[in-house]
Amino acid sequence: PEAILVSELANRMAERVSDVVKSLMQMGMMVTQNQTIDADTAELIIEEFGHKVTRVSDSDVEDVIKEVEDKDEDLQPRPPVITIMGHVDHGKTSILDAIRNARVVAGEAGGITQHIGAYQVKTESGTVLSFLDTPGHAAFTSMRSRGAQVTDIVVLVVAADDAVMPQTVEAINHAKAANVPMIVAINKMDKPAADPMKVRTDLLQHEVIVEAMSGEVQDVEVSAHTGQGLEELLEAIALQAEILELKANPDRAAQGAVIEAQLDVGRGPVATVLVQNGTLRQGDIFVVGEQYGKVRALINDKGERVKEAGPSVPVEVLGLNGTPEAGDVLNVTETEAQAREIAEYREQAAKDKRAAAGAATTLEQLMQKA
Ligand code: GTP
Ligand code: MG
Repeated sequence: PEAILVSELANRMAERVSDVVKSLMQMGMMVTQNQTIDADTAELIIEEFGHKVTRVSDSDVEDVIKEVEDKDEDLQPRPPVITIMGHVDHGKTSILDAIRNARVVAGEAGGITQHIGAYQVKTESGTVLSFLDTPGHAAFTSMRSRGAQVTDIVVLVVAADDAVMPQTVEAINHAKAANVPMIVAINKMDKPAADPMKVRTDLLQHEVIVEAMSGEVQDVEVSAHTGQGLEELLEAIALQAEILELKANPDRAAQGAVIEAQLDVGRGPVATVLVQNGTLRQGDIFVVGEQYGKVRALINDKGERVKEAGPSVPVEVLGLNGTPEAGDVLNVTETEAQAREIAEYREQAAKDKRAAAGAATTLEQLMQKA
């Protein structure tokens, strides 16, 4: 429906419901917070309150979820989200392990990362950083193609004894296409065969000019094994993040992106969600892609249950009715009816699209045969 609840609208704008009702009264509309107003009136109100409106999609039902831009005064600094990318075995997980003082690599089957890990790290100076460890680039590509831009900074890991390899080039292309700043970590510097200059000259051929070559891309020599350069790498990240001036509004209904999701035997559908704006809380009702649910539990990167997760925080979300896909966007809604309606609408739209695509191929096949 081309309508939104007054209370929902107030919630989305992070304004007091009474103020919104008052404003509507001044426009000659006598409504309570539990009544709906049409999209055009909502837009007027939104502008009245000094926000900007972007409609998420043209479809009527999705107008319920309005992307309301935050006011500058509501924005607070948020941690950067850093994605670690690079060729297989160049040491992405090892670097993260060393930074976190953890041992994920040791527990991986064949030492190969199978799924995205999402972690928060606090540096010595107190800066909080959110890291995503990627298994190859498929997940990143799927997220980007679905419009979920989750990463602020890419750390490109290149092994000094192997230099630039095919997946290194892929990672460079992804970072460039997504227009995300990159930092190069030249890893495995402890190895006798380490040749960091070869890495730098290789990178030149892909138009990545590092600082050591008088370019602008920060490069740091590191070793996940000895710990060499890791502090410097964190400083480089913090510096880059500072330039980006990343902000979000923690005082609004949460919006996030699914990093990965699976059906867990004991726990049901579980999604790792990176909160991008607002704060996600236990008990929140949400729609995520074609699924919906109510947050039954939130679990942080250390496996602890938490009551809420703010901007840039990765959390496992329990309480879904089905398994969403990586890249799906999560939006908190006011009511379960809304969440279900949007999810069902999307499901139907996806079905229609598939059916249309199916019909087209059949027709094509028929034409070819004829
Ligand atoms: P995938 O997730 O499979 O793409 O690999 P990855 O990039 O996460 O690499 P991982 O951290 O699993 O490391 C691959 C291998 O390189 C492991 O055997 C690590 O012990 C080794 N390795 C990683 N960093 C270093 C380093 O700084 N020095 C040395 N000598 N070996 C390293
Ligand atoms: Mg790995």
